Amino acid sequence: MKAITLQAPGGLDRLVVTEMADPGDPGPGEIRVRIHASSLNFHDLGVVSGRMPTEDGRIPMSDGAGVVEAVGEGVSEFSVGDHVVSTFFPHWLDGPARIADFTTTPGDGVDGYARELVVRPATWFTKAPDGYSHAEAATLTTAGVTAWRALVVDGGLKAGDTVLVLGTGGVSIFALQIAKAMGASVFATSSSDEKLERLAEMGADYGINYRSHEDWGERIWDWTGGRGVDHVVEVGGPATLGQSIAAGRIGAHLALIGVLTGRAGEIPTARLMAKQQRLQGLIVGSRTHQLDFVRALEATDVRPVLDRSFALDDIAEAFRHEISGAHFGKICLEF
Ligand SMILES: NC(=O)c1ccc[n+]([C@@H]2O[C@H](COP(=O)([O-])OP(=O)(O)OC[C@H]3O[C@@H](n4cnc5c(N)ncnc54)[C@H](OP(=O)(O)O)[C@@H]3O)[C@@H](O)[C@H]2O)c1
Repeated sequence: MKAITLQAPGGLDRLVVTEMADPGDPGPGEIRVRIHASSLNFHDLGVVSGRMPTEDGRIPMSDGAGVVEAVGEGVSEFSVGDHVVSTFFPHWLDGPARIADFTTTPGDGVDGYARELVVRPATWFTKAPDGYSHAEAATLTTAGVTAWRALVVDGGLKAGDTVLVLGTGGVSIFALQIAKAMGASVFATSSSDEKLERLAEMGADYGINYRSHEDWGERIWDWTGGRGVDHVVEVGGPATLGQSIAAGRIGAHLALIGVLTGRAGEIPTARLMAKQQRLQGLIVGSRTHQLDFVRALEATDVRPVLDRSFALDDIAEAFRHEISGAHFGKICLEF
């Protein structure tokens, strides 16, 4: 079977198409899955670029979707032919968060899904939503589950709430779609007026260009009539957090998800305290969160926004496209 391996110390020119042994039949509790799609995340870019060092020969990509080819003894949740999608934390099945690193995450601490075949414990996958393509399903593992947990599981989103999403990457677009499907209003930012128009077509109620309006948070606060937004899906980090705090209402929930603007920096702590906002770091979610999210997707008409797909062999080109920032929604590999 074909796989992509990453040679140390990493870099897009060190992604190698490799022929590997067939993984064989599933043992007890395992399933054999033919992977047909993966999707790119900022985290995967960190791994393949060498910014987040991993083992020599690692198979990258956290997200994998495909078809069950065989089930091992004792597996009752899946049947041959089922469409499935991988989970980000294979050992976090349920309950509160208890993992604070990527040592168990496919495509980082363990081999991922840039490969045609895999044999893994059945609990490393969930069913994909009915009617989803493999590429659509592959977007759920990281970006989709993160947006779901930020807004619904930990944010307690309800109809009538207001949500702020930053930029037009995978997590933010999912957050926009989940918020709209659940009856919330959405404020969105982007560096591109053209992308803001697309966000409006998708139902964003207010959009602002964060490049041409450095005080975008204050402006959003004004737009809410001085109440502030209830939820912020914070993917920017140090350079955006101050404006997100400004946009949030007293008591708002700020889910700190991303570090697009850097790994450390100054935060207006006094303002955060005065506004009595809840700032919460989070990393993706549990298998139960993914199962709930799949059910929610089947109950709504939300379909992931796919930007563009690349062949497995063209994985480096796919990451160059992500680096260019030209994308809107999810970049995928389909094979
Ligand atoms: N904690 C978690 O569980 C988790 C899970 C998934 C992702 N993340 C993190 O979330 C972030 C986004 O990930 P992703 O996969 O969605 O990325 P992505 O698909 O590559 O999207 C990046 C987008 O972010 C926007 N952006 C860049 N700089 C910005 C800024 N200063 N202010 C506002 N928006 C900005 C850009 O949108 P425009 O082109 O519209 O400007 C860009 O297209 C990353 O830091 C990633 O590591 C964390």
